[in-house]
Amino acid sequence: MKIVMLNGQNHKGSSYHVGRSIVDKIKGENEVTEFFFPKDLNHFCMGCYQCIEDVTKCHCYDEKKVIIDAIDAADIIVVTTPTYCMHVSAPLKAFLDLTFDMWMVHRPMESMFTKKSVIVSTSAGSSPKTAMKDVQDALFYMGVPKIMKYGLPVQAMNWQGVSEKKKEQIEKDAERIARKLSTGKKPAVGIKTRFMFKIMGMLHKKGWDSSLVEAEYWKEKGWLDGKKPWNPK
Ligand SMILES: Cc1cc2nc3c(=O)[nH]c(=O)nc-3n(C[C@H](O)[C@H](O)[C@H](O)COP(=O)(O)O)c2cc1C
Repeated sequence: MKIVMLNGQNHKGSSYHVGRSIVDKIKGENEVTEFFFPKDLNHFCMGCYQCIEDVTKCHCYDEKKVIIDAIDAADIIVVTTPTYCMHVSAPLKAFLDLTFDMWMVHRPMESMFTKKSVIVSTSAGSSPKTAMKDVQDALFYMGVPKIMKYGLPVQAMNWQGVSEKKKEQIEKDAERIARKLSTGKKPAVGIKTRFMFKIMGMLHKKGWDSSLVEAEYWKEKGWLDGKKPWNPK
């Protein structure tokens, strides 16, 4: 399987190690592509809305394209981020902003509706839930049907500082999560995704798009005539 890791930090700390531990336990001959932010995407969204009309006009299109192509090709997306001020790291937030044109309200990528994903976040002591929710919202609105989350307070500033007891627990949990990801089966598309896709289709049908390009995109895909991205036949 193809796995893409999107790491919201340049360093290989606790969040990365937990994510990589899950990845390494996924059965089969896997091809893993890793990106680190900001190293691999050192930009912010400028709010110019050029991408709404034409993605190639984004000021960092070339760098973004490499990452989006890898996501497009992947079966599994693994996102890791330290919890910073109760939320995702700033570089990961920048990546989420730079891909907002991929949300269902705009032009979702067909392949997203067939992917599995895991979001990993470690914090020092507070709940990492709100950080993971930032990523969960983005993946959900991009159409990803299976989103697993694994977050934990590690009481440490880096991986070396994490206790052996915690590391043992992480190993066990990573094994359990990896098992769920190891089946080659495509994930079922749940009622929430189907419902949201329907609502978004209605908006695009009514012409309530951000641009004519979006309506055209949905029409070309056949999504306004009953076709579904998770079942394109
Ligand atoms: C800028 C910054 C903000 C942080 N904010 C929080 C926080 O809101 N809650 C918390 O429990 N830990 C917070 N931490 C601690 C990290 O979340 C924690 O050490 C985490 O395990 C680091 O993950 P990493 O090793 O992958 O970088 C913060 C650390 C930094 C540097």
